[in-house]
Amino acid sequence: MARVNYKDLSKTIASLCAGEDDMIALMASVVCELHHSDDRFDWTGFYRVTGPEMLKIGPYQGGHGCLQIPFSRGVCGAAARLRAMQLVPDVEAFEGHIACASSTRSELVVPVFNGAGDVIAVLDIDSNQADAFTCEDAEALAVILASVFST
Ligand code: SME
Repeated sequence: MARVNYKDLSKTIASLCAGEDDMIALMASVVCELHHSDDRFDWTGFYRVTGPEMLKIGPYQGGHGCLQIPFSRGVCGAAARLRAMQLVPDVEAFEGHIACASSTRSELVVPVFNGAGDVIAVLDIDSNQADAFTCEDAEALAVILASVFST
């Protein structure tokens, strides 16, 4: 059972992303390393802010994800709208959850901020395990995302 080591993951991502400023390249690298670091992570991907109140899919790993999510919908929309991470132990209990896969049981969505403090994307992780995510996951991911996208 692989379990992410956030200290090691942070070092790997920092090394991979050093000197790069292309957003898609950065997102693809983060998602690849993150997805394969932990058996809880069954879908890992970014949704980018592409217009007022609109998210569109970015680099991801796992099955097909829906292409567009308005800020008014879903767990991802809530994270972007509220500028706050969404830790969902049971997706069935989250009103308006968008099920891209029927196997998803729990979800963590973390907003991504640029250096000016604008929400530019959200990082979405789905798990087929119930109650898979912790506050430690959310906090550690927020630090990694800030190191890549907020500098
Ligand atoms: N579950 C998300 C939608 C994205 S799919 O999970 C990849 C939501 O409710 O916003």
